[in-house]
Amino acid sequence: MPATASTDKLLFTPGPLTTSMSVKQAMLRDLGSRDAEFIATVRRVRSRLLAAAGLSRQDGYEAVLLQGSGTYGIEAVLTCAVPPGGKWLAVANGTYGERMVKILRMHRIDHAVIRAPENQPTDPTAVDAALATDPAITAVAVVHCETTTGLMNPVEQIGRVVHQHGRTFFVDSMSAFGAVEFGFRAAHIDFLVSSSNKCIEGVPGFSFCIARREALLASETWSRTLVLDLCAQWKGLDADGQFRFTPPTHAILAFDQALSELEAEGGPAGRAARYSACHRTLVAGMKAMGFEMFLPPEIQGHIITSFRCPADPNFQFDAFYRHLSDRGYVIYPGKVSQADCFRIGTIGRLTQADVTSLLDAIADVLSEMGITNTSAS
Ligand SMILES: Cc1ncc(COP(=O)(O)O)c(C=O)c1O
Repeated sequence: MPATASTDKLLFTPGPLTTSMSVKQAMLRDLGSRDAEFIATVRRVRSRLLAAAGLSRQDGYEAVLLQGSGTYGIEAVLTCAVPPGGKWLAVANGTYGERMVKILRMHRIDHAVIRAPENQPTDPTAVDAALATDPAITAVAVVHCETTTGLMNPVEQIGRVVHQHGRTFFVDSMSAFGAVEFGFRAAHIDFLVSSSNKCIEGVPGFSFCIARREALLASETWSRTLVLDLCAQWKGLDADGQFRFTPPTHAILAFDQALSELEAEGGPAGRAARYSACHRTLVAGMKAMGFEMFLPPEIQGHIITSFRCPADPNFQFDAFYRHLSDRGYVIYPGKVSQADCFRIGTIGRLTQADVTSLLDAIADVLSEMGITNTSAS
């Protein structure tokens, strides 16, 4: 694995993430968006993304790159994948499920919502019941890894249910794609979105959608916006390799390098192995210090982990964060609505040795802050 070799702080966050020096260096070029080299890079990136999903164009799938952060890709699918008068079923058990509901509300697109508590995965039988009773629903949207907590939703089981009912299936796999093994086709996914700066370990700048070509073609006249028109974006890329609007050329060069590094690590299986090892080291070390996890281990993924804030009166998250940041480690505040938590990500260019040094820094900070009770009660 190429060294980070950087004096930057290590980012134990859900993104932006720590990237390798070689990914950063790949950006030290200026390429014209109509230059043959850039067009070939975009073509290569699109087919490597399909390969990372275990797919190819021959199987009937397409990878579409879209300028903007991950949410732009989510909003694109939500506003393109149902026809006028169509209806979404959004499944929410955290902030990112709720964000999808907010997008649908803002676009005045009809939708139903199944909500589950933030510490419970979505129940596929609830999706089954909703689809059986509401024939107006044309598509279902679910979050793969709910980054609010780190919970993994059972996308393959939900996808099978959606397929049995003949509806379109959309997965927000923002924080999971590239580092969680799953069967894209077994899950009957029509649209999946992630972004350049999550588990592929590129830099921020664009989102991407992996879509079943027939589903993409069906959406040709359904977009509610110009810039987020996925089918038009795909057709532009396919016709002459051109983006419709100024592309993030440097971020795409970095992403091409990041994909080489993903492949060298053994693809999503290899990356999942490194992230899982980092997650296990983190959890063992935090538990040894007395911290409590928010989620039960069986639904906790290896992407990001929520820990309950210690009950000790000397604990204040802002001070804890600042002390760690001063030592070169950036963690993340909590997002859980009913519990006081903070989060530590184990994605990006991090190793088990980095996690061990974070744990040492946490022990040091606890002692400096005079925190003796790390349990939540
Ligand atoms: C599951 C999920 N969905 C959506 C987003 C939003 O992505 P962005 O902040 O890149 O717009 C995130 C960001 O972490 C995420 O984890």
